Amino acid sequence: MRLQDKVAIITGAASGMGKAEAIRFGKEGAKVVVADLNIEGAETVAQEINSNGGEALAVKVNITDNADLENMVKTTMDTYGQIDVVVNNAGIFDKYTNSLETTEQQWDLIFDINLKAIFKITNLVLPDMIERGNGTIVNIASIAGIVAQMGGAAYTASKHAVVGYTKHIAAVYGSNGIKINAIAPGTIRTPLTADMLKTRPTDKIPLDRFGNDYEVADLAVFLASDESKFMNGAVVPIDGGYTIV
Ligand SMILES: NC(=O)c1ccc[n+]([C@@H]2O[C@H](COP(=O)([O-])OP(=O)(O)OC[C@H]3O[C@@H](n4cnc5c(N)ncnc54)[C@H](O)[C@@H]3O)[C@@H](O)[C@H]2O)c1
Repeated sequence: MRLQDKVAIITGAASGMGKAEAIRFGKEGAKVVVADLNIEGAETVAQEINSNGGEALAVKVNITDNADLENMVKTTMDTYGQIDVVVNNAGIFDKYTNSLETTEQQWDLIFDINLKAIFKITNLVLPDMIERGNGTIVNIASIAGIVAQMGGAAYTASKHAVVGYTKHIAAVYGSNGIKINAIAPGTIRTPLTADMLKTRPTDKIPLDRFGNDYEVADLAVFLASDESKFMNGAVVPIDGGYTIV
């Protein structure tokens, strides 16, 4: 198994890509902390992993809340003794709201969830990873972190910032035996996009289809595993070719 005995925290793991990642990680032998604001959903995912022979624990966390983040990390350390992998997956969308229509409150919420929480979680887990000389972080950015019009103003800016932050910490902490990479999904079928995709054409995507949550989970397994040990600071699009045309 590709993640045997690795302890992995996945945020936003009650739904969509985070859920698919949690289930895949469980099958690959990881001990999975299924972290989400939606605790019922997180418990359902953890139960599914446990009943299929894996090991998982659900933790309720609002990633904008410092005490919740500290509790998530402490619970993981108390239960499993170490943290090998963090997948910063939880995020919210701004429904393509342009700058003139974005309120300061909406901007702050998007940035608190999509960016600031990644900074806070990173700072909570890095000291132990540095001490052990081992660990990996996978940040779920977006192709909205590469191109201009796959989100509104706040979402696009926040995902570009996730890309910049990923590169910065990869450059600074890579020499400590830690690798930090980002995934930039294109349009993926999840509860977040279900309504939007009913009417959206696929003709601008060279593969002429939307992606699936399990395809992103496959990439997350690779980036979390030792197979990608020479990858650091990479931003990997998984978008059917959208960003190359
Ligand atoms: N679906 C897409 O097409 C797409 C494309 C590119 C990037 N992304 C990114 O992928 C990630 C996952 O998206 P998805 O489509 O699976 O979304 P989703 O809405 O299906 O799942 C997101 C999960 O995050 C959780 N969450 C939201 N706010 C939270 C908070 N404050 N604290 C803790 N948990 C919180 C939700 O409860 C939910 O379970 C996001 O970062 C999103 O921006 C999605």
